[in-house]
Amino acid sequence: MKNIYIYLKTLLIAFVFILQNCSIVNALICSKTDPINCLQFEPLARLWNVSNEEVPKLLDLEKILISIDSKLQPLLNGLSFGGTYIDIKAGKINVNTVDQSKVNEIRNKMKNDQDFVNFMAANNTLSQLNSTFNQTFILAQQFNITNYEINIEPEFNNVVIYLNMHDGKNKKFIENVETLNPSPIIKPLSNKEKEEILFNSSTLVEKRNIYILVDGGNKIVSVNDHANGTLACSAGFWMKKNNEDFIVTAGHCPDHFPSLFYVYSFQDNHLIGPMNSRFIGSYDMGFIKKTNTNIMLRPVIRQFDIINLRFLQFFIVGSSEITSCGIHICKAGQITGIGCGFVSAINSISDFDDRVLIRTIVVANMPNNDGDSGGSMFRYNGLNGQSNLADAVDIHIGGIPGIQAVGMPINIAFELGYPLVTI
Ligand SMILES: *[C@@H]1O[C@H](CO)[C@@H](O)[C@H](O)[C@H]1NC(C)=O
Ligand SMILES: *[C@@H]1O[C@H](CO)[C@@H](O)[C@H](O)[C@H]1NC(C)=O
Ligand SMILES: *[C@@H]1O[C@H](CO)[C@@H](O)[C@H](O)[C@H]1NC(C)=O
Ligand SMILES: *[C@@H]1O[C@H](CO)[C@@H](O)[C@H](O)[C@H]1NC(C)=O
Ligand SMILES: *[C@@H]1O[C@H](CO)[C@@H](O)[C@H](O)[C@H]1NC(C)=O
Ligand SMILES: *[C@@H]1O[C@H](CO)[C@@H](O)[C@H](O)[C@H]1NC(C)=O
Ligand SMILES: *[C@@H]1O[C@H](CO)[C@@H](O)[C@H](O)[C@H]1NC(C)=O
Repeated sequence: MKNIYIYLKTLLIAFVFILQNCSIVNALICSKTDPINCLQFEPLARLWNVSNEEVPKLLDLEKILISIDSKLQPLLNGLSFGGTYIDIKAGKINVNTVDQSKVNEIRNKMKNDQDFVNFMAANNTLSQLNSTFNQTFILAQQFNITNYEINIEPEFNNVVIYLNMHDGKNKKFIENVETLNPSPIIKPLSNKEKEEILFNSSTLVEKRNIYILVDGGNKIVSVNDHANGTLACSAGFWMKKNNEDFIVTAGHCPDHFPSLFYVYSFQDNHLIGPMNSRFIGSYDMGFIKKTNTNIMLRPVIRQFDIINLRFLQFFIVGSSEITSCGIHICKAGQITGIGCGFVSAINSISDFDDRVLIRTIVVANMPNNDGDSGGSMFRYNGLNGQSNLADAVDIHIGGIPGIQAVGMPINIAFELGYPLVTI
């Protein structure tokens, strides 16, 4: 299936608009002599604790490690190894190794890349972790627990469960999971997935003859019938289906369905159109159809870096699927702005508000809060040191404020028949 639409070819007029406003012609190539072009790397530099100028080199290294990891993972027998994770600062892929006698065989197969591979002694094989993961989920359903996350976290070589420790209902569940082998790590979760409610909302405007832009990370609102206010979320990415334009966001954003969505601006909220398609069973994705012709979507992410009080803007040049732990992902949300974290688990199970979500990606250390839901999650593309190119990876759907974020892979939107629009 064709998952990418090239914006340049499809919407020349809009492209001219971008040229005028954001000068894509001037590639922002970061180098020691052009540190001003490195400013867009700041959120990632903060995560990695390096200078902005060091980011391009590390991004190149990260790409190499991801590619080696994808060759390595299929070679690792689940009865001898316990998963891998990338340590970007060390420049290595750590391999949890339970059966040391299998190491030479892997080294021989990875001859050209073995300097990048670090075999670490570990206790739990991937098969055991799979089994504990599976059993934990079965127990969660048996005990009817809600608001939890179950992850396989290679960095801890274990299954990690996040749940509310104070909920009496969870006590029996905890007693049971503790008998599993290996016994999972249990961490507290204070999860709630309530979006920001704006009581004194500005007026909702249907149409007006000016172009209003909607970029990834922008604040979007829908009417909340219960509170006479509006509910605020964040825009994800511009996607297409049958030649119609959509913004993907979290499916849980509106409190009723179908619901009209508006893009927020200081005085007026401008109509985008209805969210008339959403998937909130195992997934959490909603598609807002653009019906207002005065609204202009762009393959752009634009939000504040709250720490440095600077607006950052990225062009979407592609998408990527997350297959390695330890790599960076950043997000743009209307509450906490732009921030980055490390992938700690892939293919997790999350239960928020009685909905069991599968295939979620968990990102540790990422600033996030209610109202960021639906926002773009991306990776810096970094081609030739350019600091303003991004690859779409997922949309933000929940997490633990200030601690970790949970995302739904953009690939799910592709499977649902929505290709991504890129520059
Ligand atoms: C960041 O790096 C500096 C040295 O470059 C080091 O002194 C500092 O402890 C590091 N901070 C963290 C949080 O690792
Ligand atoms: C673990 O489970 C996944 C499916 O959830 C499967 O793809 C994978 O092969 C399993 N790995 C092992 C080692 O059993
Ligand atoms: C493996 O388990 C043993 C015994 O429980 C423990 O002493 C050791 O630290 C563990 N090794 C690792 C790498 O976790
Ligand atoms: C969990 O176990 C069930 C039944 O044993 C099996 O059908 C299912 O594929 C397993 N799931 C995973 C994720 O391993
Ligand atoms: C869980 O809920 C189901 C149906 O809602 C009920 O039949 C079952 O008894 C409950 N189990 C427990 C352990 O509470
Ligand atoms: C809400 O808006 C009204 C009128 O626009 C204003 O008088 C009032 O102070 C506002 N309340 C808050 C909490 O901002
Ligand atoms: C919403 O507005 C109606 C009519 O103005 C009012 O009767 C109702 O109490 C309001 N509800 C809330 C939750 O403020």
